[in-house]
Amino acid sequence: YHVDWDLSAAEKGGYDWFMRKEIYEQPQAVADTLLGRFDSDRRLTLDEIRISASELRTIDKVVIVACGTAYYAGLVAKYAIEHWTRIPCEVEIASEFRYRDPIVTSRTLVVTISQSGETADTLMAVRYAREQGAKVIAICNTNGSTIPRESDAVIYTHAGPEIGVASTKGFLTQVTACYLLGLFLAQERGTKFGDEVATVMAEMETMPAKIQEVLDGTDALLALARDLHQTESVLFLGRHAGYPVALEGALKLKEIAYLHAEGFPAGELKHGPIALVEEGIPVFVVVPPQGRDQLHDKVISNIQEVRARGAHTIVLAEEGDEEVRPYADRLISLPRASTLLQPLLATVPLQIFACEVATLLGHDVDQPRNLAKSVTVE
Ligand code: G6P
Repeated sequence: YHVDWDLSAAEKGGYDWFMRKEIYEQPQAVADTLLGRFDSDRRLTLDEIRISASELRTIDKVVIVACGTAYYAGLVAKYAIEHWTRIPCEVEIASEFRYRDPIVTSRTLVVTISQSGETADTLMAVRYAREQGAKVIAICNTNGSTIPRESDAVIYTHAGPEIGVASTKGFLTQVTACYLLGLFLAQERGTKFGDEVATVMAEMETMPAKIQEVLDGTDALLALARDLHQTESVLFLGRHAGYPVALEGALKLKEIAYLHAEGFPAGELKHGPIALVEEGIPVFVVVPPQGRDQLHDKVISNIQEVRARGAHTIVLAEEGDEEVRPYADRLISLPRASTLLQPLLATVPLQIFACEVATLLGHDVDQPRNLAKSVTVE
């Protein structure tokens, strides 16, 4: 009697790819990032920060430095950090940061984001920033890795090991951890927004269940991937915090499906990218929640602009958004969330779409050509 053990299938928990498994782990991963962050008075605690409230009050600039998907997580975080803390926040690609004589002082808080904690470009940025006297906080998923060891403090994302080269739960948990940091800064510095920290945290705590809802409704995405996997290029549009989501959606397709994919700020279309729109090109659009600002309506106009030129529009919008329906060739509904938290939902269908397209094209999703999980050379 012979039992055929397939070790890798066992490790993948029944999924075909680690990446798919990791996509489906995201509700738990985000819940784990949020775990134990309140003290008994419902005040946000980040004990691991070990930077005093008075030191935090002297900070006059936040600079986020990262590579790849982690950089896009930083771009999302910028919207939240500036809104909540009113501290200027820059986000920079690590390999660019150090070579341009950036303005970093002892009042700058440098935040590095790295899933592996070993990315050489990001590590070099840490060293550079500390030489300039800046405080460095690492947001990292890998315990005891080099970047947190060389930083002043670390917020671990607690996502569990990420094996697929294309980052998924890494991204969602990095955004979550950056938000915790932003809320913590607001609380400790006592900004006007400080009072709302508890409200945002309460919404954050609803996110794992909402991510699960997105994961439960993916059949339409699999059909979409079947219909579109032969396409030559795909565009992604977003505004505000939806813009980095567009960039991340495009990156996933490049990384694992080897498709030409570009993300743009929807408002920038008319300044160039709209020339790329031709009959039948798939265009994903992340629509911000319907709300008080004009953002939602502006994005609807952008969808009309590309659709009038023949684009096949795949629209991600919150459930109940009836205004968007007439312009969506395909509509992907997202649970309701505020503009700043929507990236935690809107990214997920784009991850699944990329994974499915790559699978249909017969690529090795977990180990895409030319890429490494952690790049330890500059
Ligand atoms: C590599 C990986 C990417 C990742 C980037 C940053 O290029 O292929 O998926 O986003 O490194 O990795 P890090 O571990 O620093 O988050």
